[in-house]
This record gives sequence, structure tokens and C-alpha cells, in this order.
Amino acid sequence: MKAVIPAAGLGTRFLPITKSIPKEMIPIIDKPMIHYIIDEAVQSGIHDIVLITAHGKEAIQNFFTRNHELEDRLAGAGKEEWAKDIRRIAESCNIIPVIQESPAGLGHAVGCAKDVVGNETFAVLLGDDMIDTSPYSGVAACTKQLIDIQRSNGMSVVGVMEVPELDVVKYGIVSGSKISEKTFRVEQIVEKPSVKDSPGRHAIPGRYVVDPVIFKYISETKPGKNGEIQFTDSLLKLSLNEGLLAHEFIGDRYDTGDRIGYLDATLTFGLRRPDLRDGLINLMKKHLKD
Ligand code: G1P
Repeated sequence: MKAVIPAAGLGTRFLPITKSIPKEMIPIIDKPMIHYIIDEAVQSGIHDIVLITAHGKEAIQNFFTRNHELEDRLAGAGKEEWAKDIRRIAESCNIIPVIQESPAGLGHAVGCAKDVVGNETFAVLLGDDMIDTSPYSGVAACTKQLIDIQRSNGMSVVGVMEVPELDVVKYGIVSGSKISEKTFRVEQIVEKPSVKDSPGRHAIPGRYVVDPVIFKYISETKPGKNGEIQFTDSLLKLSLNEGLLAHEFIGDRYDTGDRIGYLDATLTFGLRRPDLRDGLINLMKKHLKD
């Protein structure tokens, strides 16, 4: 299975840094955000990553490509472990870049992957949403949880989580009828509804496993919310014709496209690092005293 990661956006929510650094390359501690997303795909058994990207964002591909000169220099300086780490990143996945010529919406971005994905079920992971399953022992990566549901039911699936009523305006929202405790069949799906028009409180934080028939629905989708070709609208067509499941995954989600969500992820991952934990706690104590 391949994973599609849309990463062609301008990153306006994170200006000014995104003027020259792709949003996806902003680090959480010392790894770019997108590395955490690709790790989730890799942990879900996916090696081929279709990166929907734009001109000027080559730093992303470069990060996931071998750099022999750097590896040799590190090895020559006795830093074999660092050299191995750098090499491991490039070998963990195969990045297939596809340029999205114009920013016409998430549905359009996913549609750009059509020729590379072909006629196979594929995963979509959005880079602003980090889903961490490491606090839950024995729980698979979020995308793997969805792949398992897709395989056992033979139907496309979106990952969902419950959000407070006031937050429905930020997400694609779904509702439907339960087929098991954590899974339901989607009957309604709306992109960023108002509180009043929302079909419920189950939001899609950027994880999907979809049948390739979605490409047909994307090509039939007219611009919707904000004049963009919305992936949610294509998923609605899929739900009506082929069926779509929503699954409440296990995992902690961080909205790293938002400054507070980004800081939350940075603190959480920093506190988990044995080499940083004590220093970070001391710093936090100092700041809280001030
Ligand atoms: C996109 C999708 C939306 C989804 C959200 C998750 O919106 O259109 O359906 O719930 O990602 O983060 P965006 O946040 O890119 O505006």
C-alpha cells in the first residue's frame, strides 16, 4: 500500500518562518514534523510515500534522500552512529514527489496522486495532524488501525475523534450508524460545518484509507467550501455509492499546524527524551516561578 501526504501548501498559518522553510520541515525537537508523519506510515507497513509537493519545497525530498557526502564525513569523524541514523531515515521510505501545480484544495491535492497510486487502496495522512500512539501499549500506529478496519470490512475508512461542539468548524465532521463499538457507517459528512449545521461531533483529523475509486469522485467534485475542491465532498460521494466507515482510533492527536498544538507536541516529546527531560523540567519550573 502507498501513502499520500499532501505537502504543497504555502503554510500561511506559520508565517513568517514558512516564507523560506516548508512548514513540514519545522522541527519538533530535532526531527521535522513530516518525519513523524512518515514514521507513522512506515510503522503501518507502508514504504512508498507519494509526496504532493510544490516548487521550492525540495528540502522535504532532500531530507529523505541519502546524503553520501555527509554520511562519509560523519563516519570519517568517528560519528558512525550519526551516519547510520542519517542513512536509516533515507532507507526507511521511498519518496515519490508529485508536483501540485496550483493550490486548488485537499481533494485536488490527493487527486494529483492518481497516476502513481493506480488501482490500489491507499492511505492519506495530513501533515498538520500528529497522532501519537506510543502512550498506549500494544496499540498499532493510527494508519495501521485504519488499514485493519479497511481490510476486515472491505470498505474505505476515515479515522475520527470526538471534539468539543465549538471545534466542529475546524474539521470534516461525520455521523452515521454504528456497526461496532468504535466503528460506524458514514451517512453524513460535511466540511467545517457551523455548530448549528453540524451532523455531530466526530471530526476527521487527517487520516484516511481509501479505495482508488475516490479518484473518479475527486474528478467529479466541484469547488466547495472556500472555493476549493474539498476531499470531504469527494468522500461524501464515495459514502453514498460505495460506502464509507468511520473508526474512532486510539491515539493522542496534536494539531501541529497551530502554534499551541505545536508547543504541546514539542513539550510532550521533549519530556519523553531521557537526554532532555531533566533540563526541560528545570526550565519549566524556572518559567513558572517567573
Ligand atoms: C483538512 C480537511 C478537514 C480535516 C482537517 C484535519 O482541513 O479539509 O476535513 O478535518 O484537514 O486537520 P484543513 O485543516 O487543512 O483546513
